Amino acid sequence: MSFDLVLFGGTGDLAWRKLMPALFQAFRHGKLPAGGRILAVARDARSDDEYRALIQARFVEVESAKRPSDEEFGRFAALLHYRRMDLSQPADYAGLKRWLDGRSADTVVMYLATSPHLFPVVCAQLGAAGLNGAHVRVVLEKPLGHDLASAREINRVVGSAFGEHQALRIDHYLGKPSVQNLSALRFGNALFEPLWRRESIANIQITLAEAIGVGTRGDFYDRTGALRDMVQNHALQLLTMIAMEPPPTHDADAIRDEKLKVLKSLKAFTAESVARDVVRGQYRAGTVDGKAASGYLDEAKVPADSTTETFVALRTEVQNWRWAGVPFFLRTGKRLAARHAQIVVNFRPVPHPIFPGSTRANKLVIKLQPEDGLELHLLAAKGAGQGDWLAPVFLDLDFDKAFAAERVGAYERLLLDAIAGRLNLFVRSDEQEQAWRWIEPVLQAWADDPSPPRPYAAGTWGPPAASAMIARDGCVWDEEQ
Ligand code: BG6
Repeated sequence: MSFDLVLFGGTGDLAWRKLMPALFQAFRHGKLPAGGRILAVARDARSDDEYRALIQARFVEVESAKRPSDEEFGRFAALLHYRRMDLSQPADYAGLKRWLDGRSADTVVMYLATSPHLFPVVCAQLGAAGLNGAHVRVVLEKPLGHDLASAREINRVVGSAFGEHQALRIDHYLGKPSVQNLSALRFGNALFEPLWRRESIANIQITLAEAIGVGTRGDFYDRTGALRDMVQNHALQLLTMIAMEPPPTHDADAIRDEKLKVLKSLKAFTAESVARDVVRGQYRAGTVDGKAASGYLDEAKVPADSTTETFVALRTEVQNWRWAGVPFFLRTGKRLAARHAQIVVNFRPVPHPIFPGSTRANKLVIKLQPEDGLELHLLAAKGAGQGDWLAPVFLDLDFDKAFAAERVGAYERLLLDAIAGRLNLFVRSDEQEQAWRWIEPVLQAWADDPSPPRPYAAGTWGPPAASAMIARDGCVWDEEQ
């Protein structure tokens, strides 16, 4: 199958940092279909060879095991081409069409790694130039909108040029092997399904913690905040995968239909429940990994009086028969104590304890990163004697170790899926809009409330109010247990 991948924003940050290294890995693993061409598009004039030299120079920033030798890069570079385009000029799209028509690939992927404000213009121009045939797919990177109205507007313009099955919205979390493993865990095993419901589960905690701050992205981040940056997309996608009903098949739409139902079942926020069930925080100076870290307000390109949240913790419920009354706690933030993404499923305690002492219940810890694994926490008899019956132990599975050879990175997986037309790991427009619809009352309540986010020291687990919020349900965050 021949393909052409057109990379709009070919000299941008995403192209350098994520897409080129991922394409090279796919090439090295022999997974990139033969007969492919990668065309980077950007504003400046440069030759193919100049572009190749730029890419090769950037590979020094990639971890050494994933860096090509000169010989490997030479073979990879043969796929790379460059084209100067002014994205507002119809003539430049006509030129692109001539280049593509020169050999009529089976599949053309238009990857929009540009600033999102260009999505409407690029999609409209691609449509007008006839670059939207059935063999063309368009890949859109987040942020897809700023709120429901802007997301809908993007979807409307994209939809006027491309059908839903041609529009691939990336949530890179869905490409992570550990996240795909959530479906395998739930729907490839019969073991957990009878327990996966309100009768057995006390609460579920989803934590996406980062140790890094906002780095050089202060201006973008300050307009965005943690709710839009991490909750509306990554955290909610994880929640849907944990809470969804078993789909009838593994087809993209069967899965996305079930995920959409979860999003529609989320308890709607009101101004009152936002005040009670959502905590927003902002980091102050502190210590992360033994090093001094400055506060958010001192970061480059962040206004000194910013009220943008760098931390969110919230409580929600999935209002259906399976989950009624079970609290789902989501939490994400920058400059927290560690880079650490995990889902903890806390089971209910035994209905009638006969062993003295321990009140601990079982829990399943699904570790997403940096480790990719599973811990099943049980209680066992230590045999130590009277009054000291039970001790916590856990079964520990390390998927990185078990599948070391097969694992591929998120972008590699998503790029290969985009080329092959596998849509399972891409977000459908109705899912994306429903996620915006659900967080809008939170955005509104914050806009109406002049109080600033709660401060927390860099290197901690966020403001104490996040622990107080979950304590109202008699729960504690996993690291406090
Ligand atoms: C991105 C956010 O979507 O995800 C970033 O814009 C965040 O702010 C990143 O750092 C986290 O991704 P990962 O894969 O490093 O957990």
